[in-house]
Amino acid sequence: MPLSIAILAAGLGTRMKSARPKVLHQLAGKPLLQHVVDSCRALEPEQFLVVVGHGADAVENAMAEQGLLFVEQAEQLGTGHALQQCLPQLTPGNDVLVLFGDVPLIRAETLADLVDRRGDAAIALLGFVPASSFGYGRILHDGDAVTGIVEERDCSEEQRAVRECFSGIMLIRGDCVQALANQLDNDNAQNEYYLTDLVKHAVAAGERVTAGFADNPDEVSGVNNQQQLAAVERLFRARQADSLMTRGVKLYDPARIDVRGELRVGRDVEIDVNCVFEGSVTLGDGVRIGANCIIRDCVIGENSVILPMTSIDDARIGADVSIGPFARIRPGTDCADGARIGNFVETKQARIGKGSKVNHLSYVGDTQMGAGVNVGAGTITCNYDGTNKHRTVIEDGVFIGSDSQLVAPVTIEKNATIGAGSTITKTAPAGKLTVSRARQVTIGDWAKPKKKTES
Ligand code: UD1
Ligand code: CA
Repeated sequence: MPLSIAILAAGLGTRMKSARPKVLHQLAGKPLLQHVVDSCRALEPEQFLVVVGHGADAVENAMAEQGLLFVEQAEQLGTGHALQQCLPQLTPGNDVLVLFGDVPLIRAETLADLVDRRGDAAIALLGFVPASSFGYGRILHDGDAVTGIVEERDCSEEQRAVRECFSGIMLIRGDCVQALANQLDNDNAQNEYYLTDLVKHAVAAGERVTAGFADNPDEVSGVNNQQQLAAVERLFRARQADSLMTRGVKLYDPARIDVRGELRVGRDVEIDVNCVFEGSVTLGDGVRIGANCIIRDCVIGENSVILPMTSIDDARIGADVSIGPFARIRPGTDCADGARIGNFVETKQARIGKGSKVNHLSYVGDTQMGAGVNVGAGTITCNYDGTNKHRTVIEDGVFIGSDSQLVAPVTIEKNATIGAGSTITKTAPAGKLTVSRARQVTIGDWAKPKKKTES
């Protein structure tokens, strides 16, 4: 059965107290709405509609080039009114799955179950039993049959006590979408057109409505304020941590890890507390990540160790590498097997050769480094002349004494040694010692200056 999806995302989200449209607030580094869209993808919908209103331009920009069809709801007259705006666009006969842009933790599996469960019913609802029902629409039953959904503000005392609530997600059978949606009115406490009233119209037409319930109510938590956004972030974090542990990762504290993107892991990976992973990160077998590391878009090879307080962004790290503590690995760093990068070292657009060491207090940028190089403490590649960037080439087996500056473009040839404290501006020849500092002298007749006394 071809499926149309409609995500309602036109509301301002007044309770967020923010100028930004609610559905663009970030959860784990991406907009709430993006989470919903990503979960829906697995259903391979024939049509994918998103109803926009408040901040429509911003929402469309943030969600561009994903094959989404944006439907404008100029005035936000309710969730039912939002669905009505979709009617002219919907392919006749398609089942329509309606979701809310502010219910971001929904999983693809749960949606697939809902699609499977509709059977001959006009509507299949996804319900849940929250810890507190306050604010949610209550699902009313007569035995197994669903008879309606009543919004909090329209509830009688008795209805308010119902614990089964509507998640905001429903599947509507293709042949009755138009007829049901056209019957909605705004005769209720909020003077809004309620999506939830589709249920009573279906029942009145003699149709069956079913409800399934999410195994875990957390999955359909809605975000209406900052507290709920933080709660959803916490749930998301727990879900990621759980998945990592299921895949065999040792987490020192599952409550203290943030995965904002995709984290692939090998066997026997260990992650200490307070690490943040962003974008696409792959950790090979036996990789260990120390506390407080921020790691984005990179591949780290087998048995490499990232020591605490290290930041890695857009880099390739080989096997058996040691980085940190307190290292900053910037975009374009390519660190070969067995290399070591120590504390207070910054690298950028730099190849660090196999087994090479940059152990302390250095900047290595726009550099091609061979194997077995030792870069002494405080070495700087001076890659920028104020206008252009230039490259430094450091060939195999080079030894660079501490506190040296390599003024690019410059080449340090194979097995060369640079004496400590040198400023190198020309090629340093292979196998030779090159020093550029003045020779040390001791001044024999020097005397310490005397303090002037006032006369
Ligand atoms: C809604 C449901 C309630 C359910 C709850 C689950 C209705 C009438 N109520 O209430 O039964 O328990 O969600 O979280 O549907 N939106 C539009 N256009 C509008 C109004 C809303 O696109 O005119 C969008 C919002 O952007 C939001 C979603 O619809 O993403 C839900 O709207 P919201 O006002 O948050 O509904 P709730 O009061 O939470
Ligand atoms: Ca809501």
